[in-house]
Amino acid sequence: METDTSKMVIPAHVALILDGNGRWAKKRGLPRTAGHKQGCITVEKTVEDAARLGIRYLTVYGFSTENWKRSVEEVSALMQLFRYYLKRLLKIAKANNVRVKMIGDRTRFDSDIIEGINRLEQETAANTGMTFVIAVNYGGRDEIRRAVSRMMRDAQAGILSPDQVTEDTVASYLDTAGIPDPDLLIRTSGEIRLSNYLLWQLAYSEIYITDCLWPDFNRDELVKAIAQYSKRERRFGGAK
Ligand code: IPE
Ligand code: IPE
Ligand code: MG
Repeated sequence: METDTSKMVIPAHVALILDGNGRWAKKRGLPRTAGHKQGCITVEKTVEDAARLGIRYLTVYGFSTENWKRSVEEVSALMQLFRYYLKRLLKIAKANNVRVKMIGDRTRFDSDIIEGINRLEQETAANTGMTFVIAVNYGGRDEIRRAVSRMMRDAQAGILSPDQVTEDTVASYLDTAGIPDPDLLIRTSGEIRLSNYLLWQLAYSEIYITDCLWPDFNRDELVKAIAQYSKRERRFGGAK
């Protein structure tokens, strides 16, 4: 396996679909929530590994707009974990000079979680290292829907003219405004689908799928994905 990352092209922005927490737990005869707990530890480690590898933006899908369909027990266990990790993340972000940003519709969360998110963003805003983006209550379609709604409101208010709408205008209304599009998308646990993730932003991202279950993901797995990415020829519709 290639391990010399100095010879690799390090993607500026890596987007991750962390999947397989449930399967990881099932394999061990544990409840699904045990998989989520282990998965959170893996997120922490991955933030540090990515920052050290020189990745500038890491966006992780933590909870989708569709994940509310899960059992009340699982959703509330995920919310509890989220509460706990919001506090831990503040420490990790500060220790690693990481700026944290949340995408998705945060208004559906309990008020203490919303406060935790706001605090995490505010207290890390001046950090100059990697930007860690967490997608929670995030759905690509919901993000576009909210963007269209705000664009229409601005048009009504005379701030935005329909004739001046460019692709950059649309991008500036998305939750990811100011963040470059992902270069590499990694999905763990073998599923080959987007599951409503970053539908606009992934237009030209390279895709890497691994069978590794999220709680088992580590620096070696990340380096494997980057090694693959390094060999890809990106064309963006052009020709040689
Ligand atoms: C990913 O793991 C975490 C979330 C979606 C919250 P899953 O919970 O989807 O795990 P599997 O897919 O059931 O194994
Ligand atoms: C995608 O995983 C969402 C997150 C990782 C948060 P899912 O497990 O929800 O996706 P599907 O249901 O397999 O498409
Ligand atoms: Mg899943």
